[in-house]
Amino acid sequence: MSALPIEVTGLGKRFGDVTAVDEVSFAVHRGRITGFLGPNGAGKSTTLRILLGLVRADRGRALLGGRPFRELAAPSRTVGAVLDLASAHPATTARDHLRTYAALGGLPATRVQQVLEQVDAHEFADRRSGTYSTGMHRRLALATALLGDPEVLVLDEPTNGLDPAGIAWLRSFLGSFTDRGGTVLLSSHVLSEMQQAIDDVVLIDRGRIAWSGPLAELLGEEGSLESAFLSITGTGAPA
Ligand SMILES: Nc1ncnc2c1ncn2[C@@H]1O[C@H](COP(=O)(O)OP(=O)(O)O)[C@@H](O)[C@H]1O
Ligand SMILES: [Mg+2]
Repeated sequence: MSALPIEVTGLGKRFGDVTAVDEVSFAVHRGRITGFLGPNGAGKSTTLRILLGLVRADRGRALLGGRPFRELAAPSRTVGAVLDLASAHPATTARDHLRTYAALGGLPATRVQQVLEQVDAHEFADRRSGTYSTGMHRRLALATALLGDPEVLVLDEPTNGLDPAGIAWLRSFLGSFTDRGGTVLLSSHVLSEMQQAIDDVVLIDRGRIAWSGPLAELLGEEGSLESAFLSITGTGAPA
């Protein structure tokens, strides 16, 4: 792909009277971790759902490697996504869940062991998922998204419900994913949590992009993402 991994231009979406996304434009660069940050209700999930072809935009374009999701030749090789936590059946093990998804996706069964290793799942891979912690469920969802060996990962609020050890694990996982050339777009309403993990920032507030660019540039004048968000939007930092 020579096009940008993700490029969103002039995106707009209304739900009845609510303008969820308003003239949203941003780009995500290859090999980098971009944090899509803003308070609850800012329009993050709607933007990501449009990008993944789950919601139709009223206006604008959202492209993956230069194409809309629906026109990708090999979607699972291009993008892996964890949006809502679609969990496995409680009686199913992670390994069986992944075998099913690999088969459905026409992917080689050898991918199952590879993604289990990628998310450090050996300790729970053969346990029924009904016994999993939130962190384990999230790692299984991530493993499922990785089955197609995607170039880009899109994660909606991946730190929700994680304890500090889970967040630390996620940071190191994303670091190794991008070290291998992968690109990540993740959303969060908790600005501080991923401050050490992200390279670039896209701030969204009430459906509009408030700021985007390298994290270092944003933090140049402000000590933290919270204070940067406050001074840019003048609305007060989200919790
Ligand atoms: N399917 C929907 N129907 C009606 N309103 C929606 C729907 N999805 C999102 N919204 C509204 O759009 C706005 C943005 O929501 P969302 O994209 O979920 O924000 P975020 O993910 O940043 O919390 C909110 O006001 C939300 O209530
Ligand atoms: Mg959301």
